[in-house]
Amino acid sequence: MERGFIIGSGTSFHASLYLQHLLNKLTGFHVTAVPASEFAEWRPAKHAKYFIIGYSQSGESSDIVEAFKVAKAAGVKTIAITNTPGSTLTRISDACIVTRAGEEKAVAATKTFDVQLAAALMLAHELAGKHTGELERAAEAAERVLRAESEVRSLAERYVKAEHAFSLGKDSAYPIALEAALKLKEAAMVHAEGFAAREFLHGPVQLVDETTPVLAFAPSAEAFKGSLKAFEKIAQYKAPLILVGPGAGEVAGYAAHRVEVQGVEGDAAAIPLVKFAQLFAYHLSVLRGLDPDKPTKLTKVVKY
Ligand code: AGP
Repeated sequence: MERGFIIGSGTSFHASLYLQHLLNKLTGFHVTAVPASEFAEWRPAKHAKYFIIGYSQSGESSDIVEAFKVAKAAGVKTIAITNTPGSTLTRISDACIVTRAGEEKAVAATKTFDVQLAAALMLAHELAGKHTGELERAAEAAERVLRAESEVRSLAERYVKAEHAFSLGKDSAYPIALEAALKLKEAAMVHAEGFAAREFLHGPVQLVDETTPVLAFAPSAEAFKGSLKAFEKIAQYKAPLILVGPGAGEVAGYAAHRVEVQGVEGDAAAIPLVKFAQLFAYHLSVLRGLDPDKPTKLTKVVKY
């Protein structure tokens, strides 16, 4: 059984996309990430020769619990990745991986996303027989991002008045771009949308001007170079471009700011990249007089 689906909602869907990228690239499994709320309609309804992996930090979101029930009723094997031991998902799944970030009190998921990424890397590397120490390097790089907090805050100060923002990602940083946009919406109440870097040219670039910061995430200099066409257009329309990632400094010309991530390159760089995104959204939120931990219209667990 080498075919599967990975499901989750919100931040957990972004982790699903990241795991999809890794498993398809590094292992013999063929997996598709689908939002948990769409699984019942998007699954192959005529046979059950596949597995599902479900990401949920709480293990209680109604959409994923319902999706697991649909899968189980169809005889599909289920694997949960959750941060909450004893949660519904741990009880109804055939197997589970419990991440150990500790209770997350803030509504916006941050540290639990970090461990979702780490679990994805560990799982994919284990299945691929790849033991490289990348995760340790990613953790150290994330620490360095946190230590440079004053620079992240200065950057947030520059864009405190932005009402719209975009975040672009290339390669394994595509889910990070989606997650960055979600954090900007939830924590900082900035209307932000995330795209795969060159997808931005297929319509959304119409909306940029000098008031719309564009964050661009990439896991390597090569990935930045693969986004140059998009960067060129963004610069042409005078939108401030902020490059974040290893090799950002090597990409000449178009950027207003470059945030170099050192010590890790490739898939594992997603971890320090998202640390930057979380910190940026946090400072933007505080500077805008908001409480980053308590978005007014959201609950920690979406149940219905
Ligand atoms: C993340 O910041 C959000 N609060 C939200 O998107 C969340 O990730 C989603 O509701 C899924 O929650 P879960 O991981 O607990 O299932």
